[in-house]
Amino acid sequence: MLYISLVPAFAVLLAAKYAATPAPERVRWGLFVPVGLGAFCLPVVMLMVFPVIVWLAGLLLLALAAWPLIRRRVSNFWPVGITAALVAYGIASWSAYRDLREENRLREAYPLVSMAARVPEPRPEPIADERALAWLSTHEDPLAGGFGWRESQLRRLHTRTTDAFVNSDGFGVARMPGRITEHELKPPERPEVPPQPGSPALWPHGEAFELSPAPAREQFAKMHRHGLGDFAFREGWGYRQDRDRVAGFLSHRFSKVPTTETWTVHRIELVGLLKHAAPKVYLSDKLPAMDDLRGAPTRPLDAFETAGLVAIRKGEEGFAAQRPDVVRYLGAIRSAKQCVECHGGQRGDLLGAFAYTLRR
Ligand code: HEC
Repeated sequence: MLYISLVPAFAVLLAAKYAATPAPERVRWGLFVPVGLGAFCLPVVMLMVFPVIVWLAGLLLLALAAWPLIRRRVSNFWPVGITAALVAYGIASWSAYRDLREENRLREAYPLVSMAARVPEPRPEPIADERALAWLSTHEDPLAGGFGWRESQLRRLHTRTTDAFVNSDGFGVARMPGRITEHELKPPERPEVPPQPGSPALWPHGEAFELSPAPAREQFAKMHRHGLGDFAFREGWGYRQDRDRVAGFLSHRFSKVPTTETWTVHRIELVGLLKHAAPKVYLSDKLPAMDDLRGAPTRPLDAFETAGLVAIRKGEEGFAAQRPDVVRYLGAIRSAKQCVECHGGQRGDLLGAFAYTLRR
């Protein structure tokens, strides 16, 4: 923008020089006005505005108005014109410098941080079978979208350095993304993490349960997909350079209680596979939110969860069991290709599971 702005700047300067006649002639406003206007209009036509030209034209206008007085002391308009240009570019540079300082501050407020330090890679397991991979491919497409403004501004913040000065808004505002503002980087608003709606059902080892029929399983699978989308929260991933450099990541968490047509969710617990030597269920009186679960107490898996984990490790999407008044569902959380960016490992790896308790 700095370089492009030099063209209209030079045009207005020449027009002002032409208008600044020697005494006793009158100032030739006739040319300056259309060229000055043109210098304004041209950028507008190009969908840009150059604040620096606005300053320059304004200063030249003042100089020309005073020209009949000034020309008694100086014979040539150039020193006056060039001073005006220096002042205009000085103001624009100051504003560019302020932008740079603000961007440095934002880079510190939204730094690149390592995900590897926060979450271990999934353990290599016998890679999920074809059913699981087929399921994944239908689920990673929706994740490919949702690439928002916040993410692209975070990317700009961490990738541009050399062009930040010359492309500052002070020299020109293109319709392309201009200044990066704090407001754009702020996390999107979301409801608080809901409390667990009801009590858990634990099925001790040795206790029998019955598997749910297929149509019911489909209903629970749908609920699980919605729940997982809410928990992983695509809009909160921020800008990901690689597993060691991520800016603006918002920890996964639920923001609403998932629903089904006939059953109500009483409990959702996260079965963690990554952080402990053996699988553990995180305990919390809220729906799973990673900020809460860091350092939360855990319990070992019960009979249902143990059986469910065996099933999803074989490639099932979920495992459902029931008793007259209670249904339990274990839904697999597999790494889609987008999750691999932060989690490492491979697409299809098991990152964990949600254990749902549902009642009529
Ligand atoms: C931008 C980075 C990033 C992306 C993308 C990402 N995650 Fe995570 N995930 C993390 C981090 C970091 C943690 C560790 C908890 C924390 O520090 O917030 C985590 C934790 C988890 C956990 C809990 C692990 C445990 O046992 O404690 C699950 C499950 C999970 N992620 C699933 C997913 C899924 C599924 C996807 C893709 C749909 C995904 N994540 C995408 C960064 C990411």
